[in-house]
Parts: sequence; structure tokens; C-alpha cells
Amino acid sequence: MPKQKKRRTVKKRLVALISGGGSNLQAVMDACGLGNLDSKVVAVISSNYEAGGLLRAKAAKIDTFVCALGDFASREERDAKILRIAKKCKADYLLLLGYLGICSKILIDAYPKKIINIHPALLPKYGGAGYFGLNVHKAVLDAGDKVSGATVHYVDEGTDTGEIIMSREVAVLDGDTAESLQERVLGMEHELIVEALRVVFGE
Ligand code: GRF
Repeated sequence: MPKQKKRRTVKKRLVALISGGGSNLQAVMDACGLGNLDSKVVAVISSNYEAGGLLRAKAAKIDTFVCALGDFASREERDAKILRIAKKCKADYLLLLGYLGICSKILIDAYPKKIINIHPALLPKYGGAGYFGLNVHKAVLDAGDKVSGATVHYVDEGTDTGEIIMSREVAVLDGDTAESLQERVLGMEHELIVEALRVVFGE
């Protein structure tokens, strides 16, 4: 029998951008480690020095960088630096996992349909300027919605406007506070981000 050639899969090289606790980053790193994603997080870039996600990345021996807007003359200069890091790491995709920065054209043009964001609401509702963190969940409760959720989408030049890849609902419960709703949505996000990436990567 002729020797069968082993199918070689090329792992996707992911650069994650974060601003906070990094629980979605952890979910992606864990999925890579368990083989649920045929990918590798090759670098983590934070928009602030205090992000808890930096510690998670360091614990996983992943290179970390901080690109804080205040350290640059403009958003474009910050993104030029992010782009240099991403290129150096040979990134295939940029993942915005709780990243509070807005990507400028420099990044969008360099990684067309290769930048992916997770947002803690059912877009197009509760997206755009001001809808981040607890604000999103407060808005859902103020509107009296019975259902919320999260959305994974490609990033374009708008804020939370890019093509939707996958979204999933979470029930709003009687007595929910913004904090309790946030916690329930976040728990679901950890599964959603991995599933959405598997779809994007054709896994
Ligand atoms: C998540 O709810 C994400 O959707 C939003 O910010 C939160 C980040 O959480 N963009 P974490 O840093 O991944 O724990």
C-alpha cells in the first residue's frame, strides 16, 4: 500500500487585543490548548497596563504588549504599532476580546475580514458609541427587553457594525441587575467565541 500523506493543517496564528479581565481570551487559549481550535494565540496586546488578561497571557507564556492610546499621538499611530506587532507575529487574525479601542482604517485595510470582535448584546441593538461594559446591560434592562445575548462579528470601520458571524440569546430574568445579566451573558460568550471561530476557520 502506498504510504498515505499526512494531512498538514496550518494552525491559525491569532493576536488577541484586550482591555480587561480577559475571560474570553482564556476561553480561546483553552480551546487552542484542548485542540478544540486548531489555532495558536501568538501575542496579546492590551489597551491598558492593568488589564487582568495580561496576567492570563503571561501565565500561558504568550508574548504581551501594551498599546495604550495615551502613549501615542493619535489612534493611527497606535494602530501602526499594533500592525507592526501583528506582522512580526505573522498573525492571520486579530481577535478583539473585550477590547475597548476603535480600530482605524490602517488595521482594517491590513486585515480585511480578518478582525473579529465579540459584543455583549444582540447586534444591531445596543451597539456603537457608549455601548460597552455595564452600559450595554443597563440599556437592555431599561428597555424592558426579555432577551439579550452576544454577537461575534467582523470588524469594519464603524463601531459594532460589521458583518455578523454568529449570535446567541440569553434570557433576561426577573430581578436581573446589570451585573447579574452581564455575568450570565459573559458565561455564554466563552462558548460563542470558540464556536464562531470554528465556523470562520472552517473547522
Ligand atoms: C465581554 O462582555 C465582551 O463581549 C465585551 O467586554 C467583555 C470582556 O470580558 N466586549 P473579558 O475581558 O473577556 O473577560
